[in-house]
Amino acid sequence: MLTLRPYTPDDLERLLAWRNDPATRAMSRQGHEVSRDEHAAWMEATLQDPKRVLLVIDEDGVPKGTARLDVEDGMEAEVSITVAPEARGVGLGFKALQLACDHAFDQMGVREIRAEIRAENTASIQIFTRAGFVHEGESEGFGRYRLRPPSDGEPDPEGER
Ligand SMILES: CC(C)(COP(=O)(O)OP(=O)(O)OC[C@H]1O[C@@H](n2cnc3c(N)ncnc32)[C@H](O)[C@@H]1OP(=O)(O)O)[C@@H](O)C(=O)NCCC(=O)NCCS
Repeated sequence: MLTLRPYTPDDLERLLAWRNDPATRAMSRQGHEVSRDEHAAWMEATLQDPKRVLLVIDEDGVPKGTARLDVEDGMEAEVSITVAPEARGVGLGFKALQLACDHAFDQMGVREIRAEIRAENTASIQIFTRAGFVHEGESEGFGRYRLRPPSDGEPDPEGER
């Protein structure tokens, strides 16, 4: 079973390894190799930041990925997902993304979730599109995607139900 939980300092090394994985670096905006000190400082700042939520995805209690949610104006959050390199390609990323979006809508009260995805990141585009994100445009090699909660549909044209 997949579950989400808050990041703890015990996760520091594994998140550093996932961040420095070559495929993760190739798809991120800042693709440089992160040092342990830089990573520890980023984690420290993250834990102090009320607008940033860092989650770990466990499969039957074993950490398999991470999701970061950055709240932007109280109503909107940006999401980013990383799956452990050895666990990719078996559907975890899609399910983790769904859990992270449910968490943002249900626990954080956001009304929209944004994502910026490198245009050649086929696996990521696949999972975000399948989760209902809509492509809204491109800039500087990144696609902009947006998801609204399922209940935020257009008014029912048939009338007041
Ligand atoms: C992107 C990422 C989160 C996806 O996680 P994952 O667990 O591998 O994804 P899933 O197995 O749930 O799904 C991958 C989908 O992409 C498809 N896919 C994977 N590689 C592909 C490729 N090269 N070409 C076409 N489709 C591809 C798979 O077929 C699958 O689609 P399907 O479920 O419709 O069959 C993971 O690869 C990752 O952590 N990458 C590095 C960090 C990153 O890019 N994060 C996203 C930033 S927004």
